[in-house]
Amino acid sequence: MVALIVAAGSGSRAGGAVPKQYAMVAGKPLIAHAYAALCGHPLVDEVMVVIAAGAEPLARAALGDVPLIVGGATRRESVAHGLAAVKADLVLVHDAARPFVPAEVIDRIATALRDHAAAMPVLTMADTLVRDGIVVPRDGLSRVQTPQGFRIDTLRAAHAAWPNDEEATDDAQMVQRLGGSVALVQGDPMLDKVTHPQDFSAAEAKVAWETRSASGFDVHRLEAGEELWLGGVLIPHDKGLSGHSDADVGLHALTDALLGTIAAGDIGTHFPPSDPQWKGADSARFLQHAASLIADKGGRIDFVDLTLICEEPKVGPHRGAMRGRIGELLGLGEDRVSIKATTTERLGFTGRGEGIAAQAIATVSLPR
Ligand code: CTP
Ligand code: MG
Repeated sequence: MVALIVAAGSGSRAGGAVPKQYAMVAGKPLIAHAYAALCGHPLVDEVMVVIAAGAEPLARAALGDVPLIVGGATRRESVAHGLAAVKADLVLVHDAARPFVPAEVIDRIATALRDHAAAMPVLTMADTLVRDGIVVPRDGLSRVQTPQGFRIDTLRAAHAAWPNDEEATDDAQMVQRLGGSVALVQGDPMLDKVTHPQDFSAAEAKVAWETRSASGFDVHRLEAGEELWLGGVLIPHDKGLSGHSDADVGLHALTDALLGTIAAGDIGTHFPPSDPQWKGADSARFLQHAASLIADKGGRIDFVDLTLICEEPKVGPHRGAMRGRIGELLGLGEDRVSIKATTTERLGFTGRGEGIAAQAIATVSLPR
């Protein structure tokens, strides 16, 4: 079975800087969600995408090197252009504007196509309906979704016979109007279309999130003649932390914790100590880089917790400033930034004041 995603519309009702199918939802362009779902289905052999003339750069940025076909002025024409390129007995036609495609719906369509030449997902109406303010009995009324499935000959015939001066908002209605029968299968609210600006937040809300936590740990040596940067704050002290960057052990542990949540290596992977450009660098940059990698995945940081391990300086007087600075760097409220401190009872290198250790844990939510 070949899946055809129609994405050649201009998204005029949704507005926005780019057509809605390229707008970001949960860290990726809207169309990338449906593309991934269709590609990942075992019954789908190939996915082809119909795009507007001139939209190739947007489509390539969103999807990479995938088969692209240029569509037409209407959805119907876009489907027709796509159909001309399909070489398979069965075709699924899907709107790019419906990002979430449950595998079960594809299963149901495929099953229906064993005995029918066409199948569409429908959902019964829950709300009372009115036309011009007057209630319309909703018995027997359903709303129609995509993906719709067809034997290719049936859909080609419907497109060939369709009058050129009339439009159709989907393909099943074309088959039906020309006398064909269309099997109805159970649709899914996940398939709701993004049409208006407010539909983007509804789509975001449908994304399933997973929680990830990871830890970070770091040590730097305390030496005379160095500045003491700790937790993003400059602290007056007779010694400071030494290292290649500003040696803020607290921000380094936090950076590693954040990188850990996306399994993106550690601070040295991104900012090698051998690279002279990081000499004396403000560790705030490292922390913000880790946060930006999480944001690129559509993730959000829920909470960070940092423990500083040293006899001196006393952390308590600086806790508020550290929470404020880290919150500012990560775009988090102070209630989501915890700073703790402990001594090691004068034992070990921290106890002897030779260095400061820090450990951190970060919790993030990522779209699945
Ligand atoms: N579509 C298409 N070619 C067109 C028009 C629409 O491939 N000439 C696609 C859209 O990209 C969308 C699907 O058909 O994935 C359903 O159309 P719709 O929701 O109406 O999207 P747009 O036409 O882009 O939006 P609008 O009508 O608000 O401009
Ligand atoms: Mg349209």
